[in-house]
Formats: sequence, structure tokens, C-alpha cells
Amino acid sequence: MYYHIVTYGCQMNVHESEKIAGILKEKGYEREAPLEEADIIVFNTCCIRENAENHAFGNIGALKKLKREKKGLLIAVGGCMAQEAGKAELLRRKFPFIDLIFGTHNLAELGALIDRKRLQRRAVVSLSEERAETEDHIEPVRTSYPNAWVNITYGCNNFCSYCIVPYVRGRERSRRAEDVLREVRSLAEEGFREITLLGQNVNSYNSDGQGGMSFPELLDAVASVEGKFRVRFMTSHPKDFSEELARVMKKHGKICNLLHLPAQSGSNRILGLMNRRYTREKYLSEIAMLRSLIPDCPVTTDLIVGFPTETEEEFEETLSLVKEANFASAFTFVYSPRTGTKAAEMEGQIPEEVSKERIMRLVAQVNENTRALSSLFVGKTTEILCEDYDEKRGLYLGRNEAGRMGYFPCDRNCIGEFVTLRVERANGVSLYGTLEDS
Ligand code: SAH
Ligand code: SF4
Ligand code: F3S
Repeated sequence: MYYHIVTYGCQMNVHESEKIAGILKEKGYEREAPLEEADIIVFNTCCIRENAENHAFGNIGALKKLKREKKGLLIAVGGCMAQEAGKAELLRRKFPFIDLIFGTHNLAELGALIDRKRLQRRAVVSLSEERAETEDHIEPVRTSYPNAWVNITYGCNNFCSYCIVPYVRGRERSRRAEDVLREVRSLAEEGFREITLLGQNVNSYNSDGQGGMSFPELLDAVASVEGKFRVRFMTSHPKDFSEELARVMKKHGKICNLLHLPAQSGSNRILGLMNRRYTREKYLSEIAMLRSLIPDCPVTTDLIVGFPTETEEEFEETLSLVKEANFASAFTFVYSPRTGTKAAEMEGQIPEEVSKERIMRLVAQVNENTRALSSLFVGKTTEILCEDYDEKRGLYLGRNEAGRMGYFPCDRNCIGEFVTLRVERANGVSLYGTLEDS
């Protein structure tokens, strides 16, 4: 028996798919296989923007024929879209062949739900408002060696007015620091070389008092674990970023000098409507503080264009922020109204043509920054953690501390090694070159 998991959305979901794989293995499914060969297909969905949902709907619908032809095939849909109000009913109506629907709080029960489905004809639906069971006992099937992901918080309390995450992931809960540290120690012993701490807002770790220490303290403890590995963390919220955290970053060579700090907009009026609880000036002063401790520390961000009532001038403030903050790269999004959020009810929704034109200009500005920063590496050496081999190009690849992807030839399998790349040319976020002393 084989499984196949289709993952949409953020890193959190990617890691949860590793946990889903762990549960399936425990249930006797041997390994991941191509879609057509699988005995169970799990869709781990996302609902952050409309296109994420459309994507999943399209892919689930395409299974109708396979499901009819293959007796015993189980189809399960989980994740954020399954948890969204009204979506489970819609899924069952549109795709009556779905066997199992489970929400974001029901992941740990997946094994029991599969057993239940085997005993009944109709679909099993399990959607709780709160997480009943912790996930600490699940042994994930880690598929991204040498990288590993570690949850530190679940859920989000911020209620940014455009965002559905607090509705589908529930209130913020912190894992106990000792459990996080135990996991990090064992990953380091197993030879993982990059460990990324995950949470919607890592800076507010321990807001419920369940963690046992603050985020800077946790990061300090994680980076003090013995072993040769890098530490990354995401996502940081500008309202909670602190000098104490920047000092911990500076203190440890293991912690990558790179900060992902979503700004969302460069306009104070829009930031207010977004309920982000900081200003452009506060944002800029935080990265100035960081760069006073870690000179030229690269900062990456997320930006939204076309938030309700955004004017041309306000959009231009986002454009100018890209230059002023000197972002190393940015994820750029067209605002997508999400039913149930405050922003979806606001007057002044922006026409699609206007948003499309704005995002093109924003992407052009971001690309200019990306190119300028990548070109700084040309002619220099940079340390790369080799992650993979690209068969098409015949090159190994991996990222440097600043998240730039490096490509290079190598005559041995160097996946999982830290290597020194002499950069000969750059293209976008990619660097090309040869290895020193290899
Ligand atoms: N917790 C993180 C990431 C949330 S989702 C944070 O607070 O930054 C990742 C990104 O998706 C967000 O940063 C935001 O830029 C974008 N996003 C969220 N909701 C959106 C929406 N309704 N429309 C467009 N982009 C959205
Ligand atoms: Fe969404 Fe804001 Fe929470 Fe991020 S911090 S998940 S954008 S509500
Ligand atoms: Fe992530 Fe999408 Fe859910 S971005 S938290 S999978 S809505």
C-alpha cells in the first residue's frame, strides 16, 4: 500500500504533510508513490488566497475517474480549506467521492479516521474548533534533508483584517520549550544541517505562558545545541520584533543573518486598516536597529497590493518602501478577499485591472533590488549548504545564509555538506560558480 500527498500553501503545511506521511506509515502505508499508484491520496489544502483554493478544487475534481476505476482508493482532504466555514459541505456536494475530511485541529486523529472510514460507507468528517490532541508523538517523515522544520507555535491571534489564518488555525498555542529543544537536539544528532523554527508569529512565542521562555531565549537555547547546523525562523511580526532578538541573532554564528519581516504595505493608513499595529517609521527603525548590530543584514518581506481603498499614492509608498528598506527579495500578492474577514466587508474593493497593474510595477521594483543584491556576491566566495542535485542542469544547488540559491558542478555527492562557492555570475536570486578546494 502506498500514499500520495498533495500539499498547498506555506511551510507550516509542508511540515504538516511530513507528519501526515508519518501517520500513514504507522498505519502500514509503505511509502510515497505517484498519484496513479497510491492507495490513499491526501490533499493538504490552503485557503490564504482564492487561487490556492481554486488550485485544490481543480486537482480534487480531476480524481473522479481514478476513484471510479480503482477500488479501495481512499481520498482525504485536510488542512486550512477543509477547516474553513462551509467548505466541507461544499467539498462533499461537489465531490461526493471524497472519503474523509479532516480539519487543521484533527491531524493527529488521521489514523483513527482512516479506521473509521473502513467501517462505514459514508464520508468521515472531523472538524474540531480546538486541537484535542498534541502532535508531539507523531514521527514525521522528513523529506527535505538536510533541512528540517520544527513547529514552535500553532495558530495566530493577530487578526490582520485581510487574513483567514486565525479563523482556520485557531488561537496561538506555544509548544513547550523543552519539547522544541528535544526535537532540535535529535535533529542535530541525526545530521540535519538546517533547522527552521516555524510559527505564524514566532516573536510572540509563549504569549499563552505554555512555552516556558520568550522567543529570544528559545532561539538562544536552540542555537546553543551542539552540532554543525544553521538556524532559521519564520515568520516574525514587526509589532513584536525586538533588540533582544537581534542581539541573539548577532551572538550566534549558527543563526542565519537574514530576517523575514513581512511589511505588507508602506502606507500608514493602509497598515492601520490592515490592523498590523505598526507604522512605516517603526518598521524602518527596526531594520535600522538590526543593521546597526548586523551590518547589511538582508531583510525579506511579504507585500500586498490592492487592499480595499488603497490609492495610487499609497501604493507608491509601498514601492518606495522596497527601495528604502532595501529588501533582498519579497513575496508579492494581490489582495484576495476572504469570506469572514473584516477586509472582505470593507467598501472600496480595488478593481482587478488596477491591482494587476500595481503588482507588475511592484515586481519590477523587487526584481531590481534582487538583482542589485545578488550582483554583490559576484567575484566573492559564499558558504552554501548543498541541498539537492538538478539533473536537467547537471548541477548541485543549495542556499547561502542570505537565502540566495547557488548552483555549481561537483564530482561527488555533496548533498548535506557546507561548501564554499566562488560566485562567477548571478541571475535573479540564483548564483552560479565553482567550488573552492574541491
Ligand atoms: N504569519 C505570517 C504569514 C501569513 S500568510 C505573517 O504574518 O506574515 C503569508 C502572506 O500571505 C502574508 O504575509 C500576506 O502577505 C499574504 N496574505 C495573507 N492573506 C492574504 C490575502 N487575503 N490576500 C493576499 N495576500 C494575503
Ligand atoms: Fe495572518 Fe496576520 Fe496572523 Fe500572519 S500575523 S497569520 S498575516 S493574521
Ligand atoms: Fe498556511 Fe495557507 Fe493555512 S498559508 S496556515 S496553509 S491558509
